[in-house]
Amino acid sequence: MIRKIIKYGDPVLEQYCDPVEEFDEPELHQLVADMFETMNDARGVGLAAPQVGLLKRLTVIDCSAGEDPEQKLVLINPEILETEGEQIGEEGCLSIPGFQGDVTRAQRVVVRARDAQGGSFEVEGDGLLARAILHENDHLNGVLFLRHLTPLKRELIKRKIRKLRKKGEWD
Ligand code: NI
Repeated sequence: MIRKIIKYGDPVLEQYCDPVEEFDEPELHQLVADMFETMNDARGVGLAAPQVGLLKRLTVIDCSAGEDPEQKLVLINPEILETEGEQIGEEGCLSIPGFQGDVTRAQRVVVRARDAQGGSFEVEGDGLLARAILHENDHLNGVLFLRHLTPLKRELIKRKIRKLRKKGEWD
């Protein structure tokens, strides 16, 4: 089931999310399936639970945008173990559609997480995958990519969003 993606301005996107404690439950499997479906429908490469209104430490990532099932990644209660290097690149967010900005992220990251069955694993990401992991992990701490932009760029985007909201084109 495709869920509604919450847009910037809703306070749920700027709150700290709680760890998932119950694994391998039908509800959790359904949420993961729905999040992949919602993300693919929106042509994104990552989606975090708060973006569908749930304050849980859960994200789904697929850098192939639905093309390669092997790239599907579920990160529950992720912990960033290592970061290395630096990359600067354009970033966007499904909760802030239509806006992008340059964000500096680590080039490489190692993350430990649990899967929907509760199994613990580590995964290493480089390039786009590192960017996606760090962007999604930020969501779980209530941090949006806007916070990584220059103040000037951030204000420009916020101003445009305020205008869209006034016109009823942002909900
Ligand atoms: Ni995002």
